[in-house]
Amino acid sequence: MRTIGIIGGSGLDDPDILENAQDMVVQTPFGPPASPLKTGTIAGRKVALVARHGRQHTDSPTKVNNRANLWALRDFGCDAILATTAVGSLREDIERGDLVVLDQFIDFTRLRALTFFEEFEPHAPSHTPMAEPFDAALRETLCFACSAANIQHHTTGTVVTIEGPRFSTRAESNMFRAWGADVINMSTAPECILANELGIPYAAVAMSTDYDCWKTDEAAVTWEEVLRTFQENVTKVTKVLLESVRAL
Ligand code: ADE
Repeated sequence: MRTIGIIGGSGLDDPDILENAQDMVVQTPFGPPASPLKTGTIAGRKVALVARHGRQHTDSPTKVNNRANLWALRDFGCDAILATTAVGSLREDIERGDLVVLDQFIDFTRLRALTFFEEFEPHAPSHTPMAEPFDAALRETLCFACSAANIQHHTTGTVVTIEGPRFSTRAESNMFRAWGADVINMSTAPECILANELGIPYAAVAMSTDYDCWKTDEAAVTWEEVLRTFQENVTKVTKVLLESVRAL
């Protein structure tokens, strides 16, 4: 049976979704993860959950210790990772509250530790393929869970990850649209990259919380809007997570 890691993003920092939940304080070669692991079970499957930004949301996107978060889940024995993330929509048809099962990313970050392979072994360089960064089987499971729960969702989506913590300018937002990005966040890269480097299948379910700032007929995104929309729709994400873990 699989052991599943969940990385909870903004608005899902400390969800109460595990049975027999216990806190596990762990260390990694990269320091401690952003939060103790919350370990327990969902439908009999072993699960470990880490709050990406810490349980009090104290780690800014640049400061999130992605390597420690991923390493801790690997040490726990996770062989699948499901991540959640709030995203801004760059497309009219991706509405607030919609879920998007991501299938591609564009890495627009600049200041993050983005690899486990800073030094190569002699004559053994590590260049991880990244053409299909999200695991196909996990994505299918997430899509199936969305359909089963009758949740409005999109079965593909390219996310552009920006450095943050500021939101984009309108020029940037329009540029990301022209590049083909569908949604925008501050977290998928390098988290997804690091999971691939560790060889752990990874998929992410994103919730659209706002229209960033490209839409001139409405006010630009604020953090308050992101959190409000996420909280109003959070049960969709927890439902999809529970259903997906059950199916794995
Ligand atoms: N997370 C949620 N909405 C976002 C936006 N508009 N830009 C970057 N990250 C986000």
